Amino acid sequence: MSKIKSKKVSIVMGSQSDFKTMILCQKVLKSLDVKYETKIISAHRTPDRMYKYAKNAEKENIGVIIAGAGGSAHLPGMISALTSIPVLGVPIESKKLKGLDSLLSIAQMPKGIPVGTLAIGEDGAINAALLAAAIIGNMDSKVKKKLSQWRLNQNRSVKKKPK
Ligand code: RP5
Repeated sequence: MSKIKSKKVSIVMGSQSDFKTMILCQKVLKSLDVKYETKIISAHRTPDRMYKYAKNAEKENIGVIIAGAGGSAHLPGMISALTSIPVLGVPIESKKLKGLDSLLSIAQMPKGIPVGTLAIGEDGAINAALLAAAIIGNMDSKVKKKLSQWRLNQNRSVKKKPK
């Protein structure tokens, strides 16, 4: 097993107001025993913090970055421009356009700097964590096993007939 085994997932978000969505990433990663950290970093309000964070991400042993942002959501794309660590974007459900603005801002990255974009809101946050765990699981057999068990539980929870 390589050194990559011990890498963590870094969850970042543009605002405290995003945390009610992004907390779901934490919950999923915790349940899968994946190491993580959580930070508020805004591309437009704290650009220096964002730059420093992205430039140091390799040194910090981060294997995947999950970035949640709403509105004109440039945080995931800007971080991806500054590091080659995979970045997963969660479009936060904005008040005015219900997250369509966030979704398009994150998904429509021009070629060259990719952001793996998930669904708007809570589904996206949960799936981002599952996808991050799958990426980490490629290098960490314990995480891979946990994820397989999670899927098996989900599979078993689906009833054959509606009540
Ligand atoms: C974005 O602006 C954040 O990601 C958040 O979704 C949105 C609104 O932020 P607040 O005004 O609630 O701080 O930067």
